[in-house]
Amino acid sequence: MVLKCKDTKLAYSFFNTNMNKKMFKPRNLLTYITFTAALIVSGCDVKVKPIEGGKEIARELERHKIKRLTQKDILAAAQKAGDSVVTVAQQQLDAKLQAGLQQGGVATAIPYCQPENYTEVQELAHKFGGTPHRTGTRLRNPQNKPDATIAAILAKYEKGQLKEPQVVALNQNELLYTSPIYIRNQNCLQCHGTVGNEITSAAYEKIKQKYPADAAINYKLGELRGMWHITFNKKELVTFLNDQPKKRRRR
Ligand code: HEC
Repeated sequence: MVLKCKDTKLAYSFFNTNMNKKMFKPRNLLTYITFTAALIVSGCDVKVKPIEGGKEIARELERHKIKRLTQKDILAAAQKAGDSVVTVAQQQLDAKLQAGLQQGGVATAIPYCQPENYTEVQELAHKFGGTPHRTGTRLRNPQNKPDATIAAILAKYEKGQLKEPQVVALNQNELLYTSPIYIRNQNCLQCHGTVGNEITSAAYEKIKQKYPADAAINYKLGELRGMWHITFNKKELVTFLNDQPKKRRRR
């Protein structure tokens, strides 16, 4: 009988279960000993020769190992992902508005106040399985109207019942990240302040041309202007998390 090394484990487990079931029998023990002796004599070398690139392969396998993520882990990841999308979006919005206003005033900057549509913001959100949107306490673009769930969360920020960004599970497949938006600098007021004061009437005419139903004026510095809401596809977020290299252990 020729025994291959890879059969060893199987053979042993067969012996083990058999021996457990049938209790101890001397004949079984004899077979066991003979089998073990045969393996030793056959010189079955248990040492595995190192294969080329083995370390890299092991690292790659480790990378793709499915991590056991709890709902708590996933919610925390969505929170972190949402925070980073909003941070990038707000930095870019502030920079673009500043540049636009300086270059050609409100008329030039009007199209820039749509950070949810910036390529970089969209790409970052999609990487985490997220779709970014904004809504407002009073709307300029009617398409930014919130649905009932979003409106209920926005109302909590308005009443001060909620202050920080948060994540809730919408259903089994989706998580909802929300983060309040404030009138955080003077630039905002040039388009969301008071007409005749921070907003010149000429500038407001331009805004009205494009947004005839505008209601997003009369805001004050520091006031709640609206809210980010990012819906995360749970599966896509988990796939992203599983694709992250594990932190290397220090020796
Ligand atoms: C140059 C004019 C301009 C400036 C400056 C500006 N916005 Fe806007 N804002 C707009 C326009 C135009 C829209 C409509 C965008 C759209 O079509 O979705 C808008 C929409 C929004 C919305 C989405 C809700 C809605 O009303 O449709 C929020 C939130 C918002 N702005 C916040 C801000 C904040 C915060 C600042 C300051 C950092 C700011 N805006 C500065 C012109 C401006």
